[in-house]
Amino acid sequence: MARYVHITGWGVAIPKKVVTNFDLAKIVDTSDEWIRTRTGIRERRVAEEQEYPSTLGTQAALQALQMAGLHPREVELVIVASSSPDYPFFPATACLIQDALGARGAAAFDIMAACTGFIYGLSLAAALIRTGQYDNAVVIGAETLSRIVNWEDRNTCVLFGDGAGAFVLQASEEPGGILASVMHSDGSGAELLYLPAGGSRMPASEETVAKRLHTVRMNGREVFRFATRAMPQAVQEVVEKAGMTLEDITLVIPHQANRRIIEAAARNLKMPIERFVMNIDRFGNTSTASIPLATYEAVRQARLRPGDRVVFVGFGAGLTWGACLVEWTGPKLPPTRPRKPPRKWHWYLQLARLRRLGRRLRRRLGL
Ligand code: UT7
Repeated sequence: MARYVHITGWGVAIPKKVVTNFDLAKIVDTSDEWIRTRTGIRERRVAEEQEYPSTLGTQAALQALQMAGLHPREVELVIVASSSPDYPFFPATACLIQDALGARGAAAFDIMAACTGFIYGLSLAAALIRTGQYDNAVVIGAETLSRIVNWEDRNTCVLFGDGAGAFVLQASEEPGGILASVMHSDGSGAELLYLPAGGSRMPASEETVAKRLHTVRMNGREVFRFATRAMPQAVQEVVEKAGMTLEDITLVIPHQANRRIIEAAARNLKMPIERFVMNIDRFGNTSTASIPLATYEAVRQARLRPGDRVVFVGFGAGLTWGACLVEWTGPKLPPTRPRKPPRKWHWYLQLARLRRLGRRLRRRLGL
């Protein structure tokens, strides 16, 4: 019996604080006009002090689980893609989210593919579900990029924003769902977009802090050139892999890095720009979160409906790029397991928190 992988729930977490281009013009030498015309961005969200990729990611995941009718306890796999994880190496942000969800014993790990991370996560989760290893997964893109940009560097600080998005993936015998995916990389471009210090190559020191080497460095022009080639190529490739043509595609949901990059991709593919979802004006570049954030809006605006074929396409540091082709089915699959009323989740999540505290206490007491 063929096994398909459907996206049965989606959710987002959007920090409340809005930072406009005019706000930025007060701290760096820039203007609303420059940012709007060069990137399409008008404003972005910035996380509060107590918000991290793990807290935003948990919020988005809970919303997605609720929509899918899947209890957090039933989650089998948590994959987090983040370019600004809670901790630099370990533990994985996915483990923090697994714990907050109370997804006891679920497999949880992070993937590092920068802005392409959500595409890599979807492809990987779909493959693991298709082989029968898992019946479900939560894939999360979560960022607080505001913590890793240099707020004195106008080349980068105007571009990024914070937020999170999550998809729930479930196995089904009904055709549809994630039909094809492609993933690529070219590490020769590693230094076109990177964060130089804090890793094993350049451990943190007074000097690295003084030189702000713990913040994003980017060769914007080169990344732009790469992106305008990589995006259309990945769309074309994934469509061919699924045995379809561009005519079969209702919507493209691209990584939101720059309005001009998306317009160039549309021109290159000879597809009308109306078939590309864009919300970069209100969120900026939220890296791994940008595709689920744009998807959430496309569904709400009824631009993406059950039966539609949608291509998710991304690119980013690494260099990495990739795409997934999905037949959108909406959260209408019969749940494979019994539904639980979400109001009970509150108590379940409190219990998960108590369990965590209990385990920590036991460890501290050496019991
Ligand atoms: O998720 C992937 C992440 N990154 C990307 O996708 C970035 C891809 N690249 C881009 O989006 C664009 O290259 C940028 C938006 C970063 C820059 O746009 P551009 O049209 O490529 O500008 P540029 O780098 O060629 O710079 C043009 C001028 C420069 O001044 P000079 O050297 O010509 O005097 C910059 O110093 O614009 C200047 N500039 C700014 N001016 C006002 C750069 N940033 C700013 C700014 N405000 N914020």
